[in-house]
Amino acid sequence: MNVLDQFRVSELLLRHVAQNYTPKRMQGSDHDALLRFQRPAMEELSDLFTSDRGDRRRDYLNHPPYRAAYLLLYFLPNFLKAGLLTLTTATRPTSDARILDIGAGPASASLGMAAGLRLLNPTLRSVEIIALDRSRSILRDAEELAARFSEQWGIAIRLRARDGDLRTLIRKLPDHPVDHVVVANTVNELLERKRGQLEPVELLDLLARLPQAARSSVWIIEPAQLPSARFIQALRDIIARENLGRILAPCVHSRDCCFNTPGNKNWCHTVWPWTPPGWYAAAQQALGHFSGALRLSYVVFSLAKQQNTARAAKSFYRIVSQPMTDNNGPVLLLCGNGRCWRLRPGQHPAMWNALKQTCHRGQLIRLSDTENSSEGIRLTRRTRLISAAPLEL
Ligand SMILES: C[S@@+](CC[C@H](N)C(=O)[O-])C[C@H]1O[C@@H](n2cnc3c(N)ncnc32)[C@H](O)[C@@H]1O
Repeated sequence: MNVLDQFRVSELLLRHVAQNYTPKRMQGSDHDALLRFQRPAMEELSDLFTSDRGDRRRDYLNHPPYRAAYLLLYFLPNFLKAGLLTLTTATRPTSDARILDIGAGPASASLGMAAGLRLLNPTLRSVEIIALDRSRSILRDAEELAARFSEQWGIAIRLRARDGDLRTLIRKLPDHPVDHVVVANTVNELLERKRGQLEPVELLDLLARLPQAARSSVWIIEPAQLPSARFIQALRDIIARENLGRILAPCVHSRDCCFNTPGNKNWCHTVWPWTPPGWYAAAQQALGHFSGALRLSYVVFSLAKQQNTARAAKSFYRIVSQPMTDNNGPVLLLCGNGRCWRLRPGQHPAMWNALKQTCHRGQLIRLSDTENSSEGIRLTRRTRLISAAPLEL
């Protein structure tokens, strides 16, 4: 059973949209009718998101049709991204968890994290979410969805919503310890564009006003687009260079990000292969989107004042490209041990094929018995791949 079925996310989400955003006469009709009704708003919202975010109506989530469209188009992938990251990155499963969700929207990310924490720890009892957003209306959806999930999952999920501008809300928050601070798909809206560039120091400044941030892990999750990914890479380098905290993921070393070099056209992002539920795939197709994957850029760090110890184990690598071919043949880019490496099939084509089939961009892998030189890494006959099996989505 996949993660979404296990948590009955689609079913609860569609029921919520049908009951709150669809005329009474249509309630109880099938998914196709619901999606046909919501399609014009989904088209408009999707256009709004792909055009320059600076032009976006500030209050788009106060407009009910856009709220319904946001829930249908973005809740599911954002829930899954946060859930999968939690599952692959969180280290301390506790029986009670507290999450501060900044720019929460319908709490897609914090509810996804709650699901991830539940998978890590089946004895998880309660999750408290403090959800901050300027839209009171979308926070009402968050409250209702949290209540539905709580009932369904058998965990006490308490969501406390606070509406207002984040900069003001953050200053007024009581010093209430939380385990995780999540900022998902919000950085672009939160920070003003300056000379066309987002400024990571502004976000660090904002987090520094938050006493909770110094004691929690901070999760910044953004779409896998070049400006967001570069913002995250720059943020990560400031934290690592100035020793402001500890990078937990995706980096496997604490030196400068290997993509932050002049003229480098690549950027760090993760691509999780995903077969979406039928209704979601149909909605995407109707909008002309055909994505069989979840794409994201992210960084997880703790601002605790301690030595930066990004996972620096020699044999850990993050896959940072798709399989490609260059002048010297097939190659896969890996980040690890302080730099970017070119991995080649070497003497083990079967292992190379297995790597291509089972691993995805952004996955953390461990390889034994490789042949390393300044030219790159080659598989030998003795190389073994030690890595988690791909998650079933
Ligand atoms: C794209 S949504 C992301 C929602 C959710 N985190 C997710 O991943 O699906 C961005 C959210 O940030 C909120 N937001 C943006 N700037 C804000 C600000 N200055 N103050 C309060 N909320 C803000 C918006 O209202 C919106 O709900």
